[in-house]
Amino acid sequence: MNVLDAIKIRRSIRSFERRSLPPEVIQSIEDAILHSPSGSNAQESHFVIVQDPDQIRRIKRFAQGLSGDPAAVVVLCTNKEEALARGGLDTAEVLRFVNLGIAAAYILLTASSLEVGSCPARSFHQKAIKEILGLPEGIEPELLISLGYSNQPPRPKSSKPVREVISYDQYGKEKP
Ligand SMILES: Cc1cc2nc3c(=O)[nH]c(=O)nc-3n(C[C@H](O)[C@H](O)[C@H](O)COP(=O)(O)O)c2cc1C
Repeated sequence: MNVLDAIKIRRSIRSFERRSLPPEVIQSIEDAILHSPSGSNAQESHFVIVQDPDQIRRIKRFAQGLSGDPAAVVVLCTNKEEALARGGLDTAEVLRFVNLGIAAAYILLTASSLEVGSCPARSFHQKAIKEILGLPEGIEPELLISLGYSNQPPRPKSSKPVREVISYDQYGKEKP
């Protein structure tokens, strides 16, 4: 599947089949993470791919934004100190979140291209998730992405009108 098709079919999936993901899918998620760009190539983010059902159950207890029973959860973490050391102040203050967002998009689209459903979730108890994963000091969980096979047909996407989102040449100008 090409990238634009993967973009167009992706929707947030909140209900999953009870089916685990084959190792090739996890390998592809790993590839997506490792090929994701970062400012100054700082690569300060850390990712925990959770497939152990007990560990997923523990995470779900402290993540109200995580719906359904996903086969895997990717926990996307920032590392402010490493960001500062490897990329400087702008990376520590801003780019570490931009970098994490790009990595999230890579993960979502890789899943989509393999017809695996996903949903980002920011609603979770950061301290509890940090403890469950045994994250060291300075490594903070910022976003969860659930992964699994959807058990419901995708709903159509509702988007704002294009002119409210995209301008050409100057703010507010329509396509020439
Ligand atoms: C940064 C971010 C955080 C999100 N957090 C949650 C969440 O905590 N719970 C949830 O159900 N959905 C969450 N979502 C999913 C959004 O609700 C969803 O992307 C949005 O409604 C658009 O739908 P779509 O993803 O199907 O296009 C989040 C999405 C993003 C990008």
